[in-house]
Amino acid sequence: SSPVRAAGAPQRPVVVAHRGACTHAPENTLPAVDRAAALGVGWVENDVQRTKDGELVVVHDESLSRTTNAEQVFPHRAPWKVKDFTAAEIARLDAGSWFSPAYAGTRVPTLRQYLRRAERVHERLLLEVKNPELYPGIERQILKVLGDEGWLDRRHVTGRLIVQSFSAGSVRTVHALEPAVETALLGSPATAQLPRYAGFADLINPSYTALSAAYVSAVHALTGPHGKPMKVFAWTIDDASRARTAAGYGVDGIISDAPDTVGTALDAA
Ligand code: G3P
Ligand code: CA
Repeated sequence: SSPVRAAGAPQRPVVVAHRGACTHAPENTLPAVDRAAALGVGWVENDVQRTKDGELVVVHDESLSRTTNAEQVFPHRAPWKVKDFTAAEIARLDAGSWFSPAYAGTRVPTLRQYLRRAERVHERLLLEVKNPELYPGIERQILKVLGDEGWLDRRHVTGRLIVQSFSAGSVRTVHALEPAVETALLGSPATAQLPRYAGFADLINPSYTALSAAYVSAVHALTGPHGKPMKVFAWTIDDASRARTAAGYGVDGIISDAPDTVGTALDAA
């Protein structure tokens, strides 16, 4: 590889550790953030939902079943939905043993705990508003916690934080409430539809399966709400070949379960 990049050649995409370094540690937990930082990955992605009593927690699935021992601790509470448990109940759960006995006792973090850990290990944060249709008003609540924890100051909103969602309404709401925050729409709207998102989304984050050089160019041709070309972070790309293909298309970021493998492949390209 050449240390001098040709003029006009795409920049190396940033790498984002999907759900934390989720092949190295249990997803969406504090140890997963630590592992991402230890691997030298600059960004972590996580998923935010809300408990029955209004606490924001970092967990991917609508149900606690897959990534905690909720079925053992609360055998009569099927289908173990996050929204049906209090924060105190969720704090009792083991979110690590399903992954490995080495992580027994790991907890489902609150958003505050997650932000503090990301700050401590200097990680940038791609924060997903997950299932917002289940949690009316969650965007305002997330922004309140971000503000309380110092993540809305200039240093954080300039290149350290992106809020994303599959819900265009949720992304629009985040932008309207806190215009300084960079936002991303997950998914791959038709190119003809892209301009309607440019008013409130800085990025379009598509699945790898929807990715092409033409699509990336179509996004880059638009100006986002902060007056800069819109960007593309693609997911979930775990092997070197696909990472190099995506980089060749000009993506700005790669969201990966194998950020170490992808980072090495991009460095060697
Ligand atoms: O960041 C992209 C990715 O997280 C979207 O899918 O289901 O893993 O939240 P999912
Ligand atoms: Ca996610």
